[in-house]
Amino acid sequence: MQSFDYIVLGGGGAGLTAAITLAEHNQQVLVLNKSEFMETNTNYAQGGVAVVMDPADSFDLHVEDTMNAGAHLNNRSAVEYLVRSGPHLIHKLINWGTEFDRDDDSHGLKLTREAAHSLNRIIHARGDATGQEVQRAMVAKARSMPNITLWDNARTVELIQHEQRVRGACFVREGQAYSATAKGVILATGGLGRIYGLTTNPEVATGDGTLLALYAGAKVADMEFVQFHPTALNALGCPPFLLSESMRGEGGILLNHQGDRFMERYSSMLELAPRDVVSRSIHFERERTGKDVYLQVSHLGADFVRQRFPSIYQTCLGYGLDISRDPAPVSPAAHYAMGGVITDITARTGIPGLYAAGEVACTSVHGANRLASNSILEGLVFGERAALSALEDGRSMMDEECLTREQSLAHGDTMGGIPAAMQEIMWKCAGIVRSQELLEEGMRKITAMNSHYVLLCASIISGALRRRKNIGAHYRTDSLDNGKDSVQYHADIKSLDRFM
Ligand code: SIN
Repeated sequence: MQSFDYIVLGGGGAGLTAAITLAEHNQQVLVLNKSEFMETNTNYAQGGVAVVMDPADSFDLHVEDTMNAGAHLNNRSAVEYLVRSGPHLIHKLINWGTEFDRDDDSHGLKLTREAAHSLNRIIHARGDATGQEVQRAMVAKARSMPNITLWDNARTVELIQHEQRVRGACFVREGQAYSATAKGVILATGGLGRIYGLTTNPEVATGDGTLLALYAGAKVADMEFVQFHPTALNALGCPPFLLSESMRGEGGILLNHQGDRFMERYSSMLELAPRDVVSRSIHFERERTGKDVYLQVSHLGADFVRQRFPSIYQTCLGYGLDISRDPAPVSPAAHYAMGGVITDITARTGIPGLYAAGEVACTSVHGANRLASNSILEGLVFGERAALSALEDGRSMMDEECLTREQSLAHGDTMGGIPAAMQEIMWKCAGIVRSQELLEEGMRKITAMNSHYVLLCASIISGALRRRKNIGAHYRTDSLDNGKDSVQYHADIKSLDRFM
């Protein structure tokens, strides 16, 4: 068993920010990533990072946009902290080597628009490959720091707990079990999109961190708030590849099979309404017509499309679709979990020694629906915050407290994969549009299955069953009314026990 100062689970934006921050404070850090270090949700983010950089913008405006998109279910202190810390973290990212797109003349950062933002405030890189550029720079920075150990293909299967405190992690790498101890563990394992049949998330996004935290005694909240991105490619034989919201931000429009701009019937904000609104509009339009809906950008000009969205253009071309000429068939797909492991705004989970940051965490910063491009920002801001909290708490621990005990795996590597039948049930019963009947059907079918992921699905379905009013990303056809419902459903392993 090896010993480190801190262990970080997850090598995306939140995890690497935490690791680099800890290493800058001379700590020895182990980062465990379930797959290759480029295989993270951060890497797949396209649009950009929302941040107040323009003198015409203000922190207050970004806070209000975030609260409005989140249906005011957000924790305002968390939102203030997120927005006000933004510029500082972006400067850090730039110092770590991230190259954001700049204006040819002024060399200032280029800003684009996305849904529900009052003005252009999204910085981006390589056109539509922002996440890839951020991930590349952060991995390079982490690799250059001798006190960071990066282990890829290391799947954490259990947290080590000693005298009520999280003191390490057991993980499996190339079929071999290992354990490592530390003064604290930061969970930055990302989201859970893969429990749905249709998702923009990569294979690694299976909510493992949420399960680890539940097993360690942490609580989860807001699990029913799953964001469905409105525009994933929906063509036969193609994966549901993300067609960035910035395509609509730059003037892309949604059309039904007759060429009607149907958003006119659903929202005065048209294609730039919040994501939950656009996703439901697409869902209802497809249901109404029984036909596909399309995202069109060709009217923006072929050269512009190819230059502004080079990765999306090339990927679609690979699937036989030229988006500079033809509209792309689209469908909403599970994209982001607003809920997760409850943390305060210092990223503490309430379990000593366990911190959470990024998509796995629930600070309630996003409320009922995340504002576009606040996700990388969240990872950076709360990744740094988790590292600072862990440092603060770790200082009071004496060296002799260091654990030497070997811990054998209580659960073993039994998580396995997510069954396809489970993904289909979640898509049908706990998807964009829900009802008591569907949710009960989902719960019945899911709990009859034999998989660790039952717990994760059950926490989403239980939250959705309890929340009777429609708000943000949670929508029921049988809602009591469309008013505000501020009841937050907290769940822990005991309350979910009956589903296991
Ligand atoms: C997108 O480019 O549409 C995704 C960015 C995000 O999820 O905020």
